[in-house]
Amino acid sequence: MKLAENIYRSIQGLGIEKSLNYLAEQFPGKVIFSTSFGWEDQVITHMIFSEKLPIKVFTLETGRLFTETYYVWNRTLEKYGQKIHAFYPDTSALETMVSSKGPASFYESVENRKECCGIRKVEPLKRALAGNDIWITGIRAEQSLNRETMTAIESDESNRMIKYNPLFDWTLNQVKEYIRQNNIPYNPLHDKGFPSIGCAPCTRAVKEGEDFRAGRWWWEDQDKKECGLHVSS
Ligand code: ADX
Ligand code: SF4
Repeated sequence: MKLAENIYRSIQGLGIEKSLNYLAEQFPGKVIFSTSFGWEDQVITHMIFSEKLPIKVFTLETGRLFTETYYVWNRTLEKYGQKIHAFYPDTSALETMVSSKGPASFYESVENRKECCGIRKVEPLKRALAGNDIWITGIRAEQSLNRETMTAIESDESNRMIKYNPLFDWTLNQVKEYIRQNNIPYNPLHDKGFPSIGCAPCTRAVKEGEDFRAGRWWWEDQDKKECGLHVSS
């Protein structure tokens, strides 16, 4: 906790690019950014890649992503010419699950859904984070109720690292405006009613006035709708 507070004090008022740079200098080779190619992630990717910051960018390739997500992934590679590391699920765990329960077991129970997220996202995330000190994410406070209780810099006890959410205080309009001004590639699904994009079978468009995350695991109760990537500590 003390480290999180110290970092918070050191970067306070610096602005995001300088904060990212500061962290990369203070924790050389141990700062890592996770992208799912959503709006917010594309803003951070732009900041990292255009400044060529020594921060490793990675994605969790669940095997169930939208075609549009692969499209923006590729556009990002073309635009910046820098590496995005892909982490895949463990093949044998995936084969066992799909062979015994089929390709859509996640609709049948919360337990099955968590099992699938565990295999396709959480275990690969642990591998991606291993050996690093700082984990950067695209989380914003207004994305959902329980995320309002998070902070821009926090101690992630379960992964034993510091988590930095640089866009924490940004509104969606700020994100969109930054994307427009900097001509950043973004997922075309965002213009079709998808404010939050995860795996294809578990994400639908939201209606006017619905919550940002209403289209994620829409068949489940509100309080169960996290996949285990972001466990508050
Ligand atoms: S989730 O927990 O519900 O899936 P969400 O889609 O809101 O997360 O994204 C929040 C942040 O989690 C993203 O900005 C990104 O940093 C990280 N994230 C989510 N999904 C992935 C993924 N498939 N690969 C890498 N990072 C991800
Ligand atoms: Fe599986 Fe759906 Fe979780 Fe993706 S979001 S890992 S398909 S349960």
